[in-house]
Amino acid sequence: MRRVLVAGNWKMNGSKAANVDLITGLKAGLGDIGDTEVAVCPPFIYLSSVAEMLDGTGAAWGSQNIAVPESGAYTGETSGSMLNDFGCTYAIVGHSERRALYGETDQLVAEKYAAAHRAGIQPILCVGETLEEREGGITTEVVARQLDAVLSLEGVESLNEAVIAYEPVWAIGTGKTATGDQAQEVHAFIRSKVAEQSADVAKGVRILYGGSVKGANAAELFAMEDIDGGLIGGASLDAAEFLKICSAGS
Ligand code: 13P
Repeated sequence: MRRVLVAGNWKMNGSKAANVDLITGLKAGLGDIGDTEVAVCPPFIYLSSVAEMLDGTGAAWGSQNIAVPESGAYTGETSGSMLNDFGCTYAIVGHSERRALYGETDQLVAEKYAAAHRAGIQPILCVGETLEEREGGITTEVVARQLDAVLSLEGVESLNEAVIAYEPVWAIGTGKTATGDQAQEVHAFIRSKVAEQSADVAKGVRILYGGSVKGANAAELFAMEDIDGGLIGGASLDAAEFLKICSAGS
């Protein structure tokens, strides 16, 4: 059985005061969400304080990015070993915002995925098509290309220590969620792609859905056979809403 994971991607949101409120709200409800695994991914500058606040709660935390090199003259970067110093569990790699706004290519994303692994951190590999690509009928081609970049660099077994997040770009921050069936179709495709190389890895790898997940639509999505949780943007900034999503996974 794959344990449901609900991870909050705070993106570039938060403040010292807002984070205390949000984490306090989360802590109050974490006991009532059943077996769902919970993780939050705040901006880098807040990671260690959020990690301290979460200590002892069972909730994990992750970064939204990771450097490829391990140390050295790379101004503005943060390495896997630095993250690991604080007990980081996850690192989001290949989010569509980084691909689109910061020019991250499939190859760079694969190198970041590898860097996370080297540090003992589980990458959350984001894949997904734009609206134009969906309308052009090339959704699976795009997702396969994004996945292949990682599989050819790191091998299929690396997915034993990783999470995949399918995030259709047209559903991110738009309020337009993919329906359960639409998402399931791509999730099943991703699992079948992995199964071509290893049936065992395919059976175990968690594939999260991301894109306008809310308390009201989470249960429909998480009920799908190949959807193993969610990567949550906007709704992860509201403790009650995020907890509702977490409960939908139990
Ligand atoms: P929203 O939930 O705000 O649509 O964002 C999804 C996302 O990009 C999570 O990584």
